Amino acid sequence: MNLKGKACVVTGGARGIGRKIVETFAEAGAKAVYAIDMGFDGFEEVTAKYPAVKPFVLNVTDSAAVREAAAKIWEAEGGVDVLVNNAGITRDNLIHKMSDEDWAAVLNVNLTGVFYMGREFGPRMIERNAGSIINMASIVGITGNVGQSNYAATKGGVISMTKGWAKEFARKGAQVRVNAIAPGFIRTPMTEKMPEKVLDAMVSKTLLARMGEAEDIADAALFLASDRSSFVTAHVLSVDGGLVI
Ligand SMILES: NC(=O)c1ccc[n+]([C@@H]2O[C@H](COP(=O)([O-])OP(=O)(O)OC[C@H]3O[C@@H](n4cnc5c(N)ncnc54)[C@H](O)[C@@H]3O)[C@@H](O)[C@H]2O)c1
Repeated sequence: MNLKGKACVVTGGARGIGRKIVETFAEAGAKAVYAIDMGFDGFEEVTAKYPAVKPFVLNVTDSAAVREAAAKIWEAEGGVDVLVNNAGITRDNLIHKMSDEDWAAVLNVNLTGVFYMGREFGPRMIERNAGSIINMASIVGITGNVGQSNYAATKGGVISMTKGWAKEFARKGAQVRVNAIAPGFIRTPMTEKMPEKVLDAMVSKTLLARMGEAEDIADAALFLASDRSSFVTAHVLSVDGGLVI
């Protein structure tokens, strides 16, 4: 599997799953991998190792900035082949303690940010008749979860938006594919803040009896980004070690 000659954009690319996707795409020969994020602490080792990686400061909730960034990147690369909507946040709490701010913040990044990015890149890909969009959902978008009303709602929304885009972006035969990945529990800075007993409980329910690693998700993203998945669209690929069956 390779991404030779392809230009890629990965949101939330500075750390965790996104950073691993950026590295994996660069290793697979992508000509450019734009790592979009709000800050790039400790990212120098990535750019030093992979000259194709381009850090790009952008808040995906800023509609005007997304519009400008998409035009700039598209123009610079003469088109974008792969978009990974990976940026996401959690603000967990039981519903009676969940503030309006925590609800809105998660909706904004995880759902509206994905919409803004897709609204810019999707139509351009249709016009160019090529593209693969990968949206990062979560198994909790399928199952729901205690204390994650906001997060689970966004991930369920991402799954239905993925299916809607797969239909809309392939109209008139355009070869634009849209898929989602639904990770289980993956070891990243996001899950570091979760209580140990919650993580242990998840691992005990996982067939493969471990947490996932960022590369487990990055390898799935590489498949969906590459031409090896050229007949795969509107699919939600669970990468969860058998947590949800
Ligand atoms: N870690 C898991 O177990 C897990 C499980 C299921 C789904 N996911 C999803 O995978 C994705 C990546 O998760 P992760 O664990 O690597 O998280 P993370 O917190 O380690 O990384 C997320 C990145 O997104 C960036 N980001 C946040 N808001 C942004 C914004 N407005 N604009 C641009 N960038 C922004 C952050 O700065 C950060 O670098 C998320 O969508 C998350 O919901 C993670």
